[in-house]
Parts: sequence; structure tokens; C-alpha cells
Amino acid sequence: MELLSPRSGVSQIKPYRPARPAGDERAWIDLSLTVNPLGPSPKALTAYRHAATGIHRYPDSRQDKLRHALARRYDLDAERIVCAAGSEDLIQLVCLTYAGPGDEVLCHENGYQGFLKAARVSGATPIIAKERDMVVDVEAMIDRAGERTKVCYLANPNNPTGTYIPLEAVQRLRAGLPSHTLLVLDSAYAEYVRRDNYGDGIELVETCDNVLVVRTFSKLHGLAGLRVGWGYGPRPVIDSLNLVRSAFNVSVPAQEAAAAALSDVEHETATHAHNDAWLPWLTHELEQLGLRVYPSVCNFILVRVPTDPSLGVAQVVEHLARRNIVVKAVGDYGMADCLRITVGREDENRALVAALSEILS
Ligand SMILES: Cc1ncc(COP(=O)(O)O)c(C=O)c1O
Repeated sequence: MELLSPRSGVSQIKPYRPARPAGDERAWIDLSLTVNPLGPSPKALTAYRHAATGIHRYPDSRQDKLRHALARRYDLDAERIVCAAGSEDLIQLVCLTYAGPGDEVLCHENGYQGFLKAARVSGATPIIAKERDMVVDVEAMIDRAGERTKVCYLANPNNPTGTYIPLEAVQRLRAGLPSHTLLVLDSAYAEYVRRDNYGDGIELVETCDNVLVVRTFSKLHGLAGLRVGWGYGPRPVIDSLNLVRSAFNVSVPAQEAAAAALSDVEHETATHAHNDAWLPWLTHELEQLGLRVYPSVCNFILVRVPTDPSLGVAQVVEHLARRNIVVKAVGDYGMADCLRITVGREDENRALVAALSEILS
């Protein structure tokens, strides 16, 4: 008798492991998830509350209000926008639409974990191109692309490394990929980047028929709990994604709150000011403690803990937990001696540095 089993690839998916210990209800300083320490956009919160009375209805399957708000805000064509329940949902939707058994999905080493999962879910084979010192190596990616490559994912900037490549390198990648490969530019942290040579890739969508840019409301707008992401791409790509996605994939309050967040300039300005001040501060303080900090352009940093038999990542995590602080050990990414630490509120950042200095200095 043949036993019931999921499709091939599913058994290779690594389970998501929250950093917070299960069942421990302490009031944690949680720096393990890359969210906005200032909380949600107040305008989004107001819209969310108003929307509550309408939750007996199905959401707008056309996502009209949100798509048009995005089009106005970023000067885009609303017909080339698709929204999803978080950008991770959209990332998965891409593989479900474009890849399957026998196909390859190109990812980069140390890349966002959602890419591997998307490939596995679709039954395609993930191919992983090497990075150079935690930075995407475009030439290595091009070398690994071929006949069977249907999708190529690039997180720029990347999580958990926090590093980025300039727009010129992204253009080189696009030019080096086969024309049958969809290049997915995951620009989840685009708004945080303060570098002149960076681009979120929207300009590539205007000139290429195989580029999709993916963005999210989870970071800058502080709406991670609502689950809203969006993509901008060529009309045939958006039409195909619309066919595959579930019609009601973004809830009523999520569509309303996200649309309102786009006009919350005060919240965006405050978030930028906060990150611009505390990202360098944290970087400096942690370097002073002897940790290697990779140069981040995001709202988090990746640090390497010196390898010492008596003091490694596990001991640091345990010590921080005794001080009610939780950070993300990234062993699942193959970086057994690294931690990802999100920029918190001022008091949280200071508590983190104080707790680390107890064991590192
Ligand atoms: C690079 C990157 N892409 C996508 C996501 C998914 O974000 P969401 O599904 O909340 O939009 C994350 C979340 O941390 C991320 O770091």
C-alpha cells in the first residue's frame, strides 16, 4: 500500500523557528524580527479601526484602492501592481506561477530564506550562487543561470546580511540572465537605504519584460502583523500572478490600513530619523565590544561573534535571554557564529549594549 506523502521538495523545507522561547510570556525586548521599533503608522491604525465594521464582507478582489494609492505615491501604472498577504506570499506566488518540477530557481547564498522555500513548494530545484564576504556576487549568479532557470531571486538589500549591491550591478545581472528567466527584485528594505548608487529596481521594470519588483508594508510602515506586500512588473507577469493568487488574499483592514499608511509622511520621517541615528550607533557600540559588524543599510545588523570555546553564539543568546532580550541566531542560514540584531527603541538599544558588555568586554 502506498503511503500518503507530500510532494517532493516539501520534506526539504526548513521549519520556521521563532527566536522567542515557546510559552515564555515575559515582556521581552524583542530584537529578533526586523520590524519597525516605532510601531505602526498612526494613520494606518485609524483606517484599520474604521475598517473593522466592514469585516463581514470579502475584501476587494481587485485591490483597487490600495493599487491606486500605490500608483499615486510612487508614480506607477496601477494596472501593473499586484498585492498579496505579505511580500513572502508574493515571493511564493512567483514560483507557483513560473516554476515547477524540472525547473531551477536561482538564489544567492545567505539570501532571504523565503526564496528557498518558494522554490521547494513549487517542486523546482533551488540553485545557490556563492556570495563574496556576505555580498551578492552578480557574476557568480550569472554563471549558475541556464536553460532551466525560470526564476532568479535577489534580495537587495538582503536579510540577514543587511548588505546591498548598486543598481549598476543589478542591471548587469538582468542583462546576464536568459530572457526566459523572471528576475525578482525583493526590495523589502529599499526605503532604509541611504546610498546614491542604490535603486529598488522599479526603473528596470519600465524597460524589461522579465523583471518584477517586490515591496512590503511590514518594515517602514510598521504593518508586519497585517501582512501586506505588493509587486510591480510587466502587464503579462502581473496578469499571470493575478490568475494564480487567491482572489481575496489581502484582508479588508489590511487594504485600508496599507493605503492610509502611504500618506503618513510624519511616521515615515520619524522612522527614517530613528534608523539613521541608531543604526550607526549600534554598529559603533558593537564594534567597540569586539564584534564584527557587517555594513548594513537596513534596520538591522548582522554581527559575527568571535569563536571562543567558552563564549559563542549560544552563550550570548542565553545571557541576553536572562536580561529579557531576544535576538536572532542565524544558524539556519549556515552562519552558525552570527546574530541578526534589529534596531530597537533607544531604551532597547541601550539595554542590549549594556547586556552584551557584561559578557564581551
Ligand atoms: C528580504 C525580505 N523579503 C521579504 C520578507 C517578507 O516580508 P513580509 O512577508 O512581511 O512582507 C522579509 C521579511 O523579513 C525580508 O527580510
